[in-house]
Amino acid sequence: MNFYIDSADIEEIKIANERGWVDGVTTNPTLVAKSGRPHHEVIKDICSVVDGYVSAEVLSMDTDGMLKEGRELAKIHDNVVVKIPMCEDGLVAVKKFAAEGIKTNVTLVFSPLQALLVGKAGATLCSPFVGRLDDIHHDGMELISQCMQIYENYDISTQVLVASIRHPMHILESALMGADVVTVPFKVLKGLTKHPLTDKGIAQFLKDGEKIVQ
Ligand code: G3P
Repeated sequence: MNFYIDSADIEEIKIANERGWVDGVTTNPTLVAKSGRPHHEVIKDICSVVDGYVSAEVLSMDTDGMLKEGRELAKIHDNVVVKIPMCEDGLVAVKKFAAEGIKTNVTLVFSPLQALLVGKAGATLCSPFVGRLDDIHHDGMELISQCMQIYENYDISTQVLVASIRHPMHILESALMGADVVTVPFKVLKGLTKHPLTDKGIAQFLKDGEKIVQ
């Protein structure tokens, strides 16, 4: 399973990358705005640090605008994946990008039938949002299993990217299901190394280690 970091903060991306936790990066307008830096500059910097797909989102809501923005983003680096919001115009843009060899990631997917359309349009990645579904008392992980099943049934090559991850259980369940990619906030990535019994065990071994005969 590939791990992407969901961030536009170059410092945390560098740290996560150095630790070997990062196979790619996803950004969104909220994260880029938080960085306080120009969009293209942020994406260029991320591409210079991480050797993997970097999703950069368009703001246009019409096909022509998406194509214009997306082509400019794709020029930044070969690893740029144009992130397109789930909508009718977006799917048309995905199909055109696929014909041009430009990679796409369709975001804000909340139903398995949206995911089916994303796959049929030829997207590289499909991003169902699990946390936001859980927030409204729906089962986010059930959506992942349905998307994966549909893609398998029809031999669709689009990868399922589990997005809006809030906690380690989303990652564990994704791994058990065999999801292609998870995109994870830095704080959650860091937490994955931790276990109270690991800390307790290390403390005990260090204490006992002091008693080793020299
Ligand atoms: O990758 C999408 C992600 O950034 C959305 O996360 O926590 O805002 O639902 P969240």
